[in-house]
Amino acid sequence: MSISKYKIPEMIDLPSRQWPSKSITTSPQWCSVDLRDGNQALPDPMNPEQKLEYFQMLCALGFKHIEIGFPSASQDEFNFFRRLIEENLIPDDVFIMGLTQCRPHLIERTLEAFKGCKQGIVHAYIAASDLHMKQVFGLDWAQTIEAAVNATKQIRELAEKMPESDIRYEFSPEEFTDADPKFGIDLCEAVFEAWGKATPEKPLIMNLPATVERRPPNHYADMIESFCANFSQRDCITVSLHSHNDQGMAVAATELALMAGGDRVEGTLFGHGERTGNVDLVTCINNFYSRGIDTGIDFSDLAHVVETVERLTGMPVYYRQPYAGEYTFTAFSGSHQDAINKGVHKLSEAPEHFGMGWKVPYLHVDPADLGRKFERLIRINSQSGKGGIAWVLEQDFGIQIPKAMQPELSKYVQAYSESVGREISSDEVHSVFQEEFVLPKGPYELIGYWPRPDDQDPTFIHGEVKLKVNGKEKTVKADGNGPISAFVNAIQRIVEPEFKVNDYHEQAIGEGADAKAMAYVPLDIQERGVVFGVASDSNIDQAAVRAIIAGLNRVSKK
Ligand code: KIV
Ligand code: ZN
Repeated sequence: MSISKYKIPEMIDLPSRQWPSKSITTSPQWCSVDLRDGNQALPDPMNPEQKLEYFQMLCALGFKHIEIGFPSASQDEFNFFRRLIEENLIPDDVFIMGLTQCRPHLIERTLEAFKGCKQGIVHAYIAASDLHMKQVFGLDWAQTIEAAVNATKQIRELAEKMPESDIRYEFSPEEFTDADPKFGIDLCEAVFEAWGKATPEKPLIMNLPATVERRPPNHYADMIESFCANFSQRDCITVSLHSHNDQGMAVAATELALMAGGDRVEGTLFGHGERTGNVDLVTCINNFYSRGIDTGIDFSDLAHVVETVERLTGMPVYYRQPYAGEYTFTAFSGSHQDAINKGVHKLSEAPEHFGMGWKVPYLHVDPADLGRKFERLIRINSQSGKGGIAWVLEQDFGIQIPKAMQPELSKYVQAYSESVGREISSDEVHSVFQEEFVLPKGPYELIGYWPRPDDQDPTFIHGEVKLKVNGKEKTVKADGNGPISAFVNAIQRIVEPEFKVNDYHEQAIGEGADAKAMAYVPLDIQERGVVFGVASDSNIDQAAVRAIIAGLNRVSKK
């Protein structure tokens, strides 16, 4: 490695910067640039049908500025504009955008593509950094300004020949963050003047790109604040941000630049784009949503967006992608699972304690708001804890494992997960629970239990039990103060070891006529401690006695 090739980027001279003490309280405008030519650097660009589906998804999500292509780049790109316009496929409140370089024949073709549209934004760009101007185009500052001004005038002239369309203008000094700040402003002022008709109602969009992320996010914010402070007619421009993710900080750069005065954000879903991509709009937008800011974009079915984007772009969304990744809201570790479980159960207390409707450990946003299912929140492997295992059984099967039983259950689930050496499904967790606690193999099989209330005192029970012990049928009778005690008194005569049932936990599973009672019965055995048995039945007493038999079978295994 050769560290001496690089240097720390120079800070912007902005000693009285204000942005660090600002906070964002309203949403910026959002602009999707997913559909540019080459569809933002996809190995297999979308065909027109796929592009149309993507466009319609963006409209349905609520985007109002959508860059649909580079119409002068190819016949396909041009045709896509024409199709959307001629087949009336653009919602009335959506501005389509088309990108062009500042070159006369390309501009001519671009404006032709917009003919007949209700509202559109022509987006012209020119390289503004010395690196680009000198080494790529062989232009100096004056020549660059001249080309941008000529392009702007040409766009204005052609747009004025289309009075039926509301054509707005966006200008991008490419590599703004690598350009001389003073030259950046001079270039944009000259373009503004050449356009000549920007007003607060119809502002010119000044898009200030971090074309390559060469600086830390605070530098971008400084440049935006400085630009806003020095631009002559700030109220007649929309300051638009367009950051790339070369250093992995595009979202941070965008947020700081919004604090510094940006009004609008250009980006792509899941950060598609050249190299490491553009800023990820799904993250940016949901960050604001998670702070209670209305963004105007509806990600309530994010799984559908993920599925659509993956299918149309052929590129997978990463497992840990904020908000959208498969594991984004999943806890594997026991302590996290336990905390989430407790937090969700105490959610009703959140408004009183924290002044907000959602405050849950390890989850800054409610996954359900994004259409994410709770059952994916907690996943089980050998690292998982008792809280997570209880959660899975409750969420997926409605089974509420009593606290005292959870440590023992989790031992069996962990052992199973270790033996298979992978994450296990909730069905597998359920099977372990069933095999271990509900239907353990053992010497006892209950044939039937008949509790009969006493003729004089109906709370006093005469019980009769038919039980197979190692395949041999036996009948025993005894009395008790209730059906469970009569049962226990009866079977104590033929089973081992001696045990007591002090208390047990029951719950209903299902509703109405199909509801079943689930009984979790701790058998208190001298010198052994507590052993749980579990069973369900349409009758709660029958569920409890079956659970006792399950518990005895478990004891006999050890
Ligand atoms: O990154 C960039 O500079 C661009 C411009 C064309 C706006 O994409
Ligand atoms: Zn870009």
